[in-house]
Amino acid sequence: MTASNIVWHASAVTKQTRSALNKQKPCVLWFTGYSGAGKSTIANAVEQRLASLQQHTYLLDGDNVRHGLNKDLGFTDEARVENIRRIGEVAKLFVDAGIIVLSAFISPFRAERQMVRELVEEGEFIEVFMDTPLATCEQRDPKGLYLKARAGEIKNFTGIDSDYEPPINPEVTLDTSSMSIDECVEIVLAHLVNVGVLP
Ligand code: PPS
Repeated sequence: MTASNIVWHASAVTKQTRSALNKQKPCVLWFTGYSGAGKSTIANAVEQRLASLQQHTYLLDGDNVRHGLNKDLGFTDEARVENIRRIGEVAKLFVDAGIIVLSAFISPFRAERQMVRELVEEGEFIEVFMDTPLATCEQRDPKGLYLKARAGEIKNFTGIDSDYEPPINPEVTLDTSSMSIDECVEIVLAHLVNVGVLP
């Protein structure tokens, strides 16, 4: 249900002022890919590098957000859509605060990733496709979830009995089966320099 009788209030301190105070250009680095593809690992490593460059960041991570804000959501298609919708709105607030957001969610559907892209300004959404093959992710199985999914103990598991729609035109593509963590970080950093997020 949509609320009625609500009015948008523009704040006197703007995004531009906040970004200028932070001396940086905000954006969303949106990591997407299978469970075990390396989203959290690379997002963490990139965040560490950004912190060392005095950039103000915030990492939104799938497992963590599902412990709090989204603890009422499961893994049906509808729940995943709502998961990404809420995270998109949170990411937008952080960008408005002048922060570089890193998000690490499977975010399996193109439509919702596109929806988040459209929530922020042109150029602020940077899609980072973790193109690690499913077979590698399943072999790694860091949490033992693929094994459970194959045994039918977990339903709607991405890549097993729930869809993943790969990005068609991502800004950055990484594959942690053939690239080291350092290589991945360098590629993301180079992209941020290319698009003027970093000097
Ligand atoms: S989604 O699809 O974007 O809403 O998922 P996300 O919020 O990123 O949560 C994915 C993490 O939840 C664990 N998990 C599952 N993943 C996929 N399918 C099913 N059914 C499932 N059940 C639990 C899993 O640990 C995911 O973590 P990552 O970090 O991706 O490995």
